[in-house]
Amino acid sequence: MTVVYVLNGPNLNLLGTRRPEVYGTTTLSILEELCREEATRLGLDLVFRQSNHEGLLIDWIHEAGARVKAGESIGAVFNPGAYTHTSIALHDAVEGTELPVVEVHISNVHRREAFRHHSYISPVARGTIVGLGVDGYRLAIDALHGMSSR
Ligand code: DQA
Repeated sequence: MTVVYVLNGPNLNLLGTRRPEVYGTTTLSILEELCREEATRLGLDLVFRQSNHEGLLIDWIHEAGARVKAGESIGAVFNPGAYTHTSIALHDAVEGTELPVVEVHISNVHRREAFRHHSYISPVARGTIVGLGVDGYRLAIDALHGMSSR
């Protein structure tokens, strides 16, 4: 079965308890279930991961990129957390693997501190979904699915 990746960066393991007024009360494991339901609805397998470590996220992007090239995956929904605003290495990983990425942020980063307004990922993403809460993940899976069947 074709795979869709959902990759989450630092501190997203704290979803549900971390600043619920900003990120809501849905936990990471409930979010995984929501993503699995959507993937299943579309006939896709889900690989859902979270890491607080930049290098591991890079390894997963390489893995996902290779699987897209092998015809086994449609790409990745990616919430890089704070690495969004700092990581040239993640930018280069997405660019270098040509991995189709839809960048997701739960909060509306543009309504927040100025340091959250710049993303190193957006220039190499196919699209971005910002500020729609955890529903953004479902929309991003749909978008990747739509792109892959065009
Ligand atoms: C976030 C926004 C980032 O600025 C922040 O560092 C996060 C979460 C979001 O989903 O809204 O960790 O990516």
